[in-house]
Amino acid sequence: MTVLVTGAAGFIGYHVCQRLLDRGDRVVGVDCINDYYDPAVKHARLARLDGKDGFTFVKADIADRAAMAELAKSRPDIDRYINLAAQAGVRHSLNKPFDYTHANVEGHLTMLELARFNDRVRHFVYASSSSVYGSNSKQPFSVEDRVDTPISLYAATKRAGELMSHAYSHLFRVPTTGLRFFTVYGPWGRPDMAAYLFAKGIIEGTPIKIFNNGDMRRDFTFIDDIVSGVIGVLDNPPAGKNGEPPYHLYNIGGNTSERLMDYIGLIEECLGKKAIYEFLPMQPGDVKETVADITAIQRDVGFAPTTRITEGIPRFIQWFKDYHGL
Ligand SMILES: NC(=O)c1ccc[n+]([C@@H]2O[C@H](COP(=O)([O-])OP(=O)(O)OC[C@H]3O[C@@H](n4cnc5c(N)ncnc54)[C@H](O)[C@@H]3O)[C@@H](O)[C@H]2O)c1
Repeated sequence: MTVLVTGAAGFIGYHVCQRLLDRGDRVVGVDCINDYYDPAVKHARLARLDGKDGFTFVKADIADRAAMAELAKSRPDIDRYINLAAQAGVRHSLNKPFDYTHANVEGHLTMLELARFNDRVRHFVYASSSSVYGSNSKQPFSVEDRVDTPISLYAATKRAGELMSHAYSHLFRVPTTGLRFFTVYGPWGRPDMAAYLFAKGIIEGTPIKIFNNGDMRRDFTFIDDIVSGVIGVLDNPPAGKNGEPPYHLYNIGGNTSERLMDYIGLIEECLGKKAIYEFLPMQPGDVKETVADITAIQRDVGFAPTTRITEGIPRFIQWFKDYHGL
């Protein structure tokens, strides 16, 4: 099969491409390599994919309809899509709202349109986010919960992606599956995310910002578990029986709720150095606790996260040190 993976130079996209190529699939990777965070890490990820059998990279913006139509025309073998390209990050959405509608709404719709007019399409898998749960206080978060009250524009655009996908599954029978990721971390992780920022601050001896005075819990998910889930889902498209739209939506999380301060403690331990803490109030748009109910994805595709933070953090820190030559 041939899989079009968008966001291929990104954290999750890079790892998904690696796993698909390792099992012998052909992969067309797309990314615009924007500078939301240092593009050097995106180029470094791509360099590791470059030259692998079955891999082609196209630098393009997924919201560029002409470029994406051209790509579809030149690669009629594409039969599966994994749309991971997005403007990520809750905090950035307070200042750059149009980056979010561009990539996450316009871009997502452009990808759905490609799938709509592709007779070979078997499955359209895409990234959503735990942030759609907003300030829901019921834990664990379940896909059955109402998600009509986003507290960031990022969350609102991710929810829009889910709703548009449902419409395309219903109207055009495009088989779609959305995955609500819960705080993903691991080697080649994003420089704007907590694990990386904490490690950097500790190494440099600069204060690390800890929001809500450290009273936060997260369902951290190790990257290898996420990739297993993405590929497990890719191989199990929704059938859309009894006139139902071929549409699935799952939570995908590590299945444990960890205290933020324990996560930081492990990073300190692995680096052999204490952090300087800067305790701050809750950030607008952020949530205090996330826990995923993963019953549905466990039942349907056998998803079983195995990496606890006690194993995942040392693996992240090892990569961090190697990458920075420490
Ligand atoms: N990492 C997490 O914890 C997490 C949590 C929830 C949801 N997600 C979602 O998972 C997906 C992947 O996230 P990630 O952590 O790998 O982020 P990332 O920023 O590392 O990867 C996204 C990639 O998409 C590219 N991109 C952005 N806009 C684009 C556009 N218009 N056209 C083409 N490429 C574009 C970027 O250059 C980047 O390389 C995103 O949809 C994100 O919203 C991630």
